[in-house]
Amino acid sequence: MPPPPFVLSLLLLLLLQIVVVVGGEWLDSAPTTPGSRNETGTRNSAANSSVGVLLLSASTDQVVIDNGLLHVAISVPGGDVTGIQYNGLDNVLDVLNNDDNRGYWDVVWNLPGHDIIFDRVHGSTYKIVSESSDQIEISFNRTWSISTNDTFVPMNIDKRYIFRSGCSGFYTYAIFDRPEGWPDIEIDQVRIVYKLREDKFQYMALSDDSQRFMPTAGDRSTGLPLAYPEAVLLTNPENQEFRGEVDDKYQYSIENQYNRVHGWICDEPPAGFWMITPSNEFRTAGPVKQDLTSHVGPITLSMFVSTHYAGKEVGMKFNSGEAWRKVFGPVFVYLNSASPEDGSNSLWEDAKRQMYGEVKIWPYDFTACDDFPNAEQRGSVVGQLFVHDGYISEQDMYGASAYVGLAAPGPAGSWQRENKGYQFWTRANKRGLFEIEKVRAGDYNLYAWVPGFIGDYKYDTNITITPGCSIDLGTLVYEPPRHGPTLWEIGIPDRTAAEFYIPSPYPTLMNSLYTDNRKSRFRQYGLWDRYADLYQEHDLIFTVGTDHYRKDWFYAQVTRNAGNTTYQSTTFQIVFELQQVNDMSTYYLQLALASAMESDLQVRFNNASVEPAHFSTGPIGQDNAIARHGIHGLYWLYGIEVPSFQLHGGINTIYLTQASAKTPFQGVMYDYIRLEGPPET
Ligand SMILES: *[C@@H]1O[C@H](CO)[C@@H](O)[C@H](O)[C@H]1NC(C)=O
Ligand SMILES: *[C@@H]1O[C@H](CO)[C@@H](O)[C@H](O)[C@H]1NC(C)=O
Ligand SMILES: *[C@@H]1O[C@H](CO)[C@@H](O)[C@H](O)[C@H]1NC(C)=O
Ligand SMILES: *[C@@H]1O[C@H](CO)[C@@H](O)[C@H](O)[C@H]1NC(C)=O
Ligand SMILES: *[C@@H]1O[C@H](CO)[C@@H](O)[C@H](O)[C@H]1NC(C)=O
Ligand SMILES: *[C@@H]1O[C@H](CO)[C@@H](O)[C@H](O)[C@H]1NC(C)=O
Ligand SMILES: *[C@@H]1O[C@H](CO)[C@@H](O)[C@H](O)[C@H]1NC(C)=O
Repeated sequence: MPPPPFVLSLLLLLLLQIVVVVGGEWLDSAPTTPGSRNETGTRNSAANSSVGVLLLSASTDQVVIDNGLLHVAISVPGGDVTGIQYNGLDNVLDVLNNDDNRGYWDVVWNLPGHDIIFDRVHGSTYKIVSESSDQIEISFNRTWSISTNDTFVPMNIDKRYIFRSGCSGFYTYAIFDRPEGWPDIEIDQVRIVYKLREDKFQYMALSDDSQRFMPTAGDRSTGLPLAYPEAVLLTNPENQEFRGEVDDKYQYSIENQYNRVHGWICDEPPAGFWMITPSNEFRTAGPVKQDLTSHVGPITLSMFVSTHYAGKEVGMKFNSGEAWRKVFGPVFVYLNSASPEDGSNSLWEDAKRQMYGEVKIWPYDFTACDDFPNAEQRGSVVGQLFVHDGYISEQDMYGASAYVGLAAPGPAGSWQRENKGYQFWTRANKRGLFEIEKVRAGDYNLYAWVPGFIGDYKYDTNITITPGCSIDLGTLVYEPPRHGPTLWEIGIPDRTAAEFYIPSPYPTLMNSLYTDNRKSRFRQYGLWDRYADLYQEHDLIFTVGTDHYRKDWFYAQVTRNAGNTTYQSTTFQIVFELQQVNDMSTYYLQLALASAMESDLQVRFNNASVEPAHFSTGPIGQDNAIARHGIHGLYWLYGIEVPSFQLHGGINTIYLTQASAKTPFQGVMYDYIRLEGPPET
């Protein structure tokens, strides 16, 4: 006898609801293959599916979510992702690793003056925070008290995962929170780590230009560590193709503004694992800060806070009086697959498509989090930026392609060290028109900088964003630093050293990822050492008028290797001619640096040894951009007054001495140098 119809509808209803089954242990036993639907071409989460039923099963030590496309297992109450079953792969994560070493959040922190601690954040309570027939959000919370383990950062951390039906991936974010009165602390790093199966994921993709088959962690372990442990010469890789190559995770760094999708591809079966970051709002230190992406392991990261390419000065420091709360994420962990005919080639293109889709629907409207405002709760700012520099043009110029952003109130340029708030950036168009959308409510300053001009703009009144607001700032005019006419200039004011001479790497120390990639050739290992090869007899001398910065200005002023692990300071010279010098007048040297690492840059005019130097930066910089193949770190601008008695008619020489020289990685990168004559009256 068939069951009565109401029983059937009840069953159906149950299926459409989230079915909670206690005791599921699918990872070892369940035969169901989530990717068993048979389609051609790539699949993505937007695909409709009749398998849009979310199943959640929880046992004492894990919760398993199955939405028909993937099965994900997460430890309870820790909240570590231990298994992702997808497309016929039992687990895309590294099953050889312990459960807590596959997909996790971690924090690097310290008490002031104490050693740093790696805190892998395991939750202590597990809770379903929202559920419906097509979505479920779960929380793994760790609350801190004075009696908790002293390796735990004094911070409540609520890790969240969101699963949606028909969605080939999941969202994750975390709410960090501390009330007043908790200990003084410093936090240098907050990130998510996914470790994938090495036997499957061998092709890494960071951008259209940067992708390839990669060596393995095993290849690294049999290799030869170079000047620091992250850089390894592969001397005995399994795949002989990689023999003699260098691998270093810092070679795969990207500026935050371009770090929106990266990950790994599995050939057989064709499948991809991607970290998609639809917004930069929660990352620290603005759009040009660089950070790690994916690297050999195979590992895929999402970096929220780090000191990379900036130094401890962008780390977060809290004093006990300070209450703070921030949402990191959501980011989207996306998995895709392709038919064997299409192969893995289509996966990167599909991942990019998915990324654009996520950007489009940002800010997500489906988080169960009061601290994550949806689109209606956000505001926007529009305006048009001009640049006024009377020595270039009497008319105001468009702030073309300007970087324009909102960040916590502070002095002009403070955004590049700002690290506790949210930042919202855009690029102006050719006419300087900009629109910053989807801004969280709060108090901000509006900052800008314009490629082609030195210095930082700040709009002089605070901007308060309220839900739904739309603020039109009208016309803004930036007047970059300028005291007189340009006598000469070196480089392009764009905050990088990319336009200068970047040497070829040693043929024995190449990373083939960048062999044909001219845009990123500075990511090769060991370029700093080429300086001493090229300038054996004496340091760099640049003669204005005959030399060209693209070939005659070494991209970094590094130290000189003097053998026996000693290093010497170096002095760059700029030689230039002045027809005549106006007595009793003031010249100006605009000196813009793209990076500084434990440096002290001294500037002297026409006498290399005069003490004290006419100008000294004093000790600056921790960005380590030379060692880590960044072409820039933080930006430093110095306007140096030069009284006319420092100069004379005829040939003059400026001596730039980087005086701190204990390691190969100290030094500066210049962005741009300009000598200005006395003001025209
Ligand atoms: C999947 O598609 C292939 C080729 O179209 C077909 O041969 C195979 O039977 C299909 N498998 C399933 C499970 O539908
Ligand atoms: C599924 O998607 C296809 C292609 O977008 C569309 O033609 C079809 O109507 C959809 N079916 C359902 C049930 O939504
Ligand atoms: C996580 O813990 C914090 C601190 O106790 C609390 O405020 C918050 O509501 C908790 N989150 C959940 C989802 O329970
Ligand atoms: C503190 O936590 C760490 C890491 O989870 C663990 O190894 C250690 O045993 C814990 N210490 C105490 C006293 O619980
Ligand atoms: C702008 O905001 C900052 C930080 O809240 C505050 O210190 C400053 O006084 C404000 N400036 C103006 C002009 O209101
Ligand atoms: C290298 O430096 C060490 C320590 O300063 C010194 O003892 C040694 O003699 C030096 N060797 C050479 C070859 O200069
Ligand atoms: C350079 O300065 C040093 C130290 O003040 C001085 O002894 C020397 O005479 C100066 N050289 C010239 C050429 O003026």
